[in-house]
Amino acid sequence: MTDRIASFQSARARRESIAVLTAYDYPSARLLAESGVDVLLVGDSLGMVVLGYPDTTLVTMEEMLHHTRAVARGSRDAGGRALIIADLPFGSDESPRTSVRDGLHLLDAGAHAVKLEGGADHAAHVAALTEAGVPAMSHIGMQPQRVRIEGGYKIKGKTPQQAAALLADADALEKAGAFGLLLELVVPAVAKEITARVKIPTIGIGSGPDCDGQVLVTHDVIGLFPWFKPKFAQQRAFTADEIRRAAREFVAATKSGTPATLTTPSPGSTS
Ligand code: KIV
Repeated sequence: MTDRIASFQSARARRESIAVLTAYDYPSARLLAESGVDVLLVGDSLGMVVLGYPDTTLVTMEEMLHHTRAVARGSRDAGGRALIIADLPFGSDESPRTSVRDGLHLLDAGAHAVKLEGGADHAAHVAALTEAGVPAMSHIGMQPQRVRIEGGYKIKGKTPQQAAALLADADALEKAGAFGLLLELVVPAVAKEITARVKIPTIGIGSGPDCDGQVLVTHDVIGLFPWFKPKFAQQRAFTADEIRRAAREFVAATKSGTPATLTTPSPGSTS
């Protein structure tokens, strides 16, 4: 087990909540790591908030590798302390063997661990990844890669049957070797019960305050994807507004003939 994974797992003993944000490129990774974010998640949400796809099922392994490499460079230049987790994209879980193949490629690209969607039905994938030396975090509850099958993004754990299935998933994945569990849109009481039951850290998104850590999509936190705002994500900056303001100012200056760029000093000039 690497130091970063060991530190992630001991956070609960230190009574320290784990802060996770998504990062997709060099500047976001560097700025977030410089700000003390514990985990940089190269989430396949990049398909929606960076690449403009309608959902995450179109994200390819090539794209995940490209963005993971950029995040690894940004984190390195921020001191390299953050744990980098990269998502296994849609289709990587065709078999435990394909998950291991893609997981190893993501480690080569600079990730320290991977995250994969799936419950007890993916315990064999988690076991194979762990056995191959690819630390695996499991993603249960609402699984965005299942959006086309389920016809939307639905809260999980509302019925006693769903809650029992989530608890069984958590048990099976912990037993298979998952180093952490991501709980997405899980009813808060069920997320609390899972967190109390397993020994590995739980990271929640829209799953209440009782997980061992919280994750959000960075674009939701900084207001860089203003066309969709999840209800649970607290927006802390208005980046889209700033981009529009700066761009409008540049356009207006250029169109009006006002110097829109700074003058480059001529060769030999001392100023
Ligand atoms: O892809 C992603 O960014 C994620 C988060 C929504 C947790 O999995």
